[in-house]
Amino acid sequence: MIEIVCVVGARPNFMKMAPILDALRAYPDIKPYLVHTGQHYDEEMSRVFFVELGLPRPDQDLEVGSDSHGRQTGKIMMAFDSLLDGRSTRMVVVVGDVNSTVACSLVAVKRGILVAHVEAGLRSRDRTMPEEINRLVTDAISDILLVTSPDGIDNLRAEGVPASKIHLVGNPMIDSIVRHRDAARARNVPQRFALAPRRYGLVTLHRPSNVDDPDTLAGILESLQALARRVPILFPVHPRTRERIRSLGFQPGPGLALHEPLGYLDFLGLMDQATFVLTDSGGIQEETAALGVPCLTLRANTERPITLTEGTNRLLGTDPRAIVPAATALLDGDAPVPRCPALWDGHAGQRIAKVLADHVEGGAPAGSRTTVPVDT
Ligand code: UD1
Repeated sequence: MIEIVCVVGARPNFMKMAPILDALRAYPDIKPYLVHTGQHYDEEMSRVFFVELGLPRPDQDLEVGSDSHGRQTGKIMMAFDSLLDGRSTRMVVVVGDVNSTVACSLVAVKRGILVAHVEAGLRSRDRTMPEEINRLVTDAISDILLVTSPDGIDNLRAEGVPASKIHLVGNPMIDSIVRHRDAARARNVPQRFALAPRRYGLVTLHRPSNVDDPDTLAGILESLQALARRVPILFPVHPRTRERIRSLGFQPGPGLALHEPLGYLDFLGLMDQATFVLTDSGGIQEETAALGVPCLTLRANTERPITLTEGTNRLLGTDPRAIVPAATALLDGDAPVPRCPALWDGHAGQRIAKVLADHVEGGAPAGSRTTVPVDT
């Protein structure tokens, strides 16, 4: 059996890995070994996703928990390196751009194990974002770069990555949307929150640039409260944001509901029926594109420009005063025409599994990265 270690760590990883693990079942010679780093550990940030996405129990949970970026990354590296001791792992698969992604790819590459990066090539060109550093480092050291959209190829080629390492496979996050959309709809989630379908806004915010500065966060909350006079707003609050809101002493007024983080199916059910989603998440820009729901992104830049040109996304910049006019325009009918990028079709997991299998089933022994033939 050929062992492929698949790494997940934080909430946005789970819905990307689930379809890949599913598709790897078609390859009986390959034995996936699922590692959870424990970067996210709360019930609602982690476990509920395993249950709802049908992910297998992790073979190993490194339980690293929260810490500063450097210490968290270092702890994951130490624990993951020990885990690989004595194993004959042929390949490590990492997804996305979180600290777990860079930590595990760095450990694997130093052991001479093939590294495959799913969601390679995305660039915000903003090096103050921790995720941008994680993307740059992971892509620079990975052997197999699995790209969701053509702009990813352009970015990697511009950084000197040979074409033979790059594979355009589409977006596995959308596989999960396609697979679970009906189940999410059947839960009638808006009704459970006393919201009328297509008559509410859904908000998620957790980026340091939006929530760490008290004045910026206060401005955002003020804008949300103003918008709530026009349309009900539901805001499931990420743990880091919750702490910041608490220290501001903010209490929501009429029309604005703050809630604990939601599970995958409930959040999908809410996105699907929202008038608009306001976010600073990367993944949600993509999910709303697939669902055809307008997305307003409270950021100065996006590493996912295809969601602007071929999706439903609009970049608002960082000034919270942009929120009310942009949302009001959507409510008044100025909605983008739904489009969805090519290969965001529910089959990316299969394409990824095929690339991975092609690389390991050639019979190359573990530790022989440079001798493994790569596709052209
Ligand atoms: C991480 C990712 C980010 C991703 C986000 C999704 C990095 C650099 N950032 O950011 O790209 O969009 O996850 O959620 O990897 N906490 C809990 N419970 C948990 C996890 C975190 O309470 O299960 C709290 C802790 O107080 C922690 C804070 O949230 O200090 C931040 O968590 P962390 O994993 O460091 O980064 P995120 O902001 O979640």
